[in-house]
Amino acid sequence: MYTFDDRGSNSITLKPEGTASVCRAYLEHGFQNLPQPVRLYYFSPGFRYERPQAGRFREFHQFGCEAIGEADAFLDAEMIDMSWQFLKSLGLKNTLLFINSIGCPECRPKYLEVLRSYFSNNVNELCPDCRNRLERNVLRLLDCKQPGCQQIVNQAPKSIDYLCLPCADHFQALKNYLGILEIPFEVNQRLVRGLDYYSRTVFEIQPEEEKSQSTIVGGGRYDGLIEMLGGKATPAIGFATGIERIILNLKRQNIPVPAIPAPKVFIACLGDAARNEAVKLTAALRKQGIGVISATSAKSLKAQMRQANNLKISRVVIIGEDEVKAGTALLKDMTNSQQETVKLADLPGLLK
Ligand code: HAM
Repeated sequence: MYTFDDRGSNSITLKPEGTASVCRAYLEHGFQNLPQPVRLYYFSPGFRYERPQAGRFREFHQFGCEAIGEADAFLDAEMIDMSWQFLKSLGLKNTLLFINSIGCPECRPKYLEVLRSYFSNNVNELCPDCRNRLERNVLRLLDCKQPGCQQIVNQAPKSIDYLCLPCADHFQALKNYLGILEIPFEVNQRLVRGLDYYSRTVFEIQPEEEKSQSTIVGGGRYDGLIEMLGGKATPAIGFATGIERIILNLKRQNIPVPAIPAPKVFIACLGDAARNEAVKLTAALRKQGIGVISATSAKSLKAQMRQANNLKISRVVIIGEDEVKAGTALLKDMTNSQQETVKLADLPGLLK
């Protein structure tokens, strides 16, 4: 993480993700008193003191969702479905969904013990990083990328073989729901995720052709986090997706990024009195949710029409001095160059 002292010698840490902050907000604002689960979403910058490389930045942006307050595996499926459909809606192809269950405080200690003992027996074959992690965080050995460790990891005991009955049932229910939703998935016993708050379900969506570096979506259950932050035991699940990674993958697949919708109406005017009407009309249209560009300063009408054309706006309202006097405007359809005279007062309703 980025941690530093500010000018007042306060230790500041830039947030590396959104989940912990959302949980803090849930507690701080009494969301536990709302009907549960509470479903939330966020867009947020994140900061991680990483070695920058393709798709991995020190400042990045996440879009994330969290469902807090219920443990039902239906919610796990809902989160996966939402992130899956989101990527599909962008047109991204060839993505793979990996799921795993890393158990709960009941069953995980036993599994960690078995895992530690397994890796201790193979310690000479492990990379230096893994040897360090053996005592600190043995789960993370499972996602080591070093070729030397891979073979040992492939033979390692699997968490799903050590789940207690409630965790095993939960995982089975999730798989059933994913089947009903027709979302293809692979159980990946090496998937443990990089954050320490997870329990039970963990999942990732990765592009088929890439290494884990470009994981697009990551998520999972964190049933112990809210309690860790001072609340009562509150189950929760969520995911986050990296905006830059999505763009990277859209580019890789030559999928054009959707254009920002063009404004619908352009207002051209000539003279001060017309300008005042244009200001009024612009505000009235925007209040109705209609995107408007109003010509600025004293450009010639020709220049204003050229601007509307360049902006690809098909409806142009033209207000000149005669129109102001008559309380009218010309409404021009740029697609067929036809124009009609309409009452200024009727324009907001007409254009809506
Ligand atoms: P995460 O896997 O650390 O999970 O990050 C989620 C996504 O953020 C990644 O899949 C990736 O797309 C993007 N991302 C992460 N780090 C970087 C980076 N350095 N540069 C560019 N993109 C990055 C979380 O953050 C959890 N809070 C997700 C979650 C929500 N779990 C439960 N609820």
